Amino acid sequence: MKISENMIYVGVNDENIDIFEGQYKVPAGITYNSYLIKDKKNVLMDTVDKRKVSDWLKNVEEALKGEPLDYLVVSHLEPDHSDGIKQLLEKYPKTKIISNQKVFAFLPQFFEIEHLEEKEILVKEGDTFPFGEHTLHFIMAPMVHWPEVMMTYEEKEKILFSADAFGTFGVVSEYDEKEQMLSEAEKHSKEELWLDEARRYYVNIVGKYGIQVQNVLKKVETRKIEKICPLHGFILTENLNFYLEKYNTWSSYGWENEGIFIACASMHGYTLEAMQELKELLRKRTSKEVKLFDLTREDITYAVAEAFKYKHLVLASPTYNGELFPTMDSFLRLLKGKSYQNRKVMLVENGTWAPLANKCMRDIINQMKNIEIAETGITIKSKMAKETKTNMEEVVENLQKSWEL
Ligand code: FEO
Repeated sequence: MKISENMIYVGVNDENIDIFEGQYKVPAGITYNSYLIKDKKNVLMDTVDKRKVSDWLKNVEEALKGEPLDYLVVSHLEPDHSDGIKQLLEKYPKTKIISNQKVFAFLPQFFEIEHLEEKEILVKEGDTFPFGEHTLHFIMAPMVHWPEVMMTYEEKEKILFSADAFGTFGVVSEYDEKEQMLSEAEKHSKEELWLDEARRYYVNIVGKYGIQVQNVLKKVETRKIEKICPLHGFILTENLNFYLEKYNTWSSYGWENEGIFIACASMHGYTLEAMQELKELLRKRTSKEVKLFDLTREDITYAVAEAFKYKHLVLASPTYNGELFPTMDSFLRLLKGKSYQNRKVMLVENGTWAPLANKCMRDIINQMKNIEIAETGITIKSKMAKETKTNMEEVVENLQKSWEL
């Protein structure tokens, strides 16, 4: 696939992968993106996961049309982008690797490459590499989301090769096919197609490193960018401010929606029933969006992304063995691990003889930054009862004032 006169997409779709990076379900698969820039010299941007190396090598060979491969730029050493390095160098032994000091330090941990030092071209922040009409500029992006990550800006075509940033789960061609089957009225913009899975990707994979993302956004904001080429998902060519703004919001731990996200763990279904009542009550009393998520049945990585989306969070959990119910415990520890912050939270606990979930949730939340817990929460004694309903109505009334719903 040609991206421009001199640039060819040589990446691959992985439709059959079930779990990405050992923890993320990817029902629509994922892409491993790789790009070839042809000029006086030929430069390849990154390799792919071991699941797809042979398909990718065929794409590279086809795109080169018998010309030599002079350089490989390595932006990120995580195996989904580096598994092809050794086989590529075996096939094209004269190819030199352009990358930074950390990549060259970590590379031998992944592969034994003979005479690696003779193949290395070391670059650092601000270095440039002309290879004909095209010139690469290197921008270090440490901890976005490994320490060795770098982005590359190509000056002639004004392309930002953004490494994992701006990537998304999902196979792009599948989206395209789906789009072709839809009527005009049902079609979504590329931004809409990108947004939910890009948010889940960002929050779960990069979410912890907001400060580092902010730093790299500042570095690239002075560049005129016409295309963003990430290592996963869509090549972004239009309305780039939309994507940059989303990254700015997510990395500064801001919210996209003023509404309320109710994350509920339920053991016998009674806590969930109570939260369905709370959702209806909130819907009647406020104009804000209210979304209920069943942590027990749904994939928790979606819940983490939704928690980042909304300004307000309600957490509902049974007490279990004198502690927190396991799914809520995992959810809160994941949020903490993603540096979740700047939110307003209300707590709902359930317990038959000694409800302790409120205290347990508080203990974890107190380790997060700038989370305001509502003064009054809700305690359910086993099931919804008249008193619980009264308590719920009072709490919603208080929230309306304190959260300005
Ligand atoms: Fe797509 Fe950080 O690897």
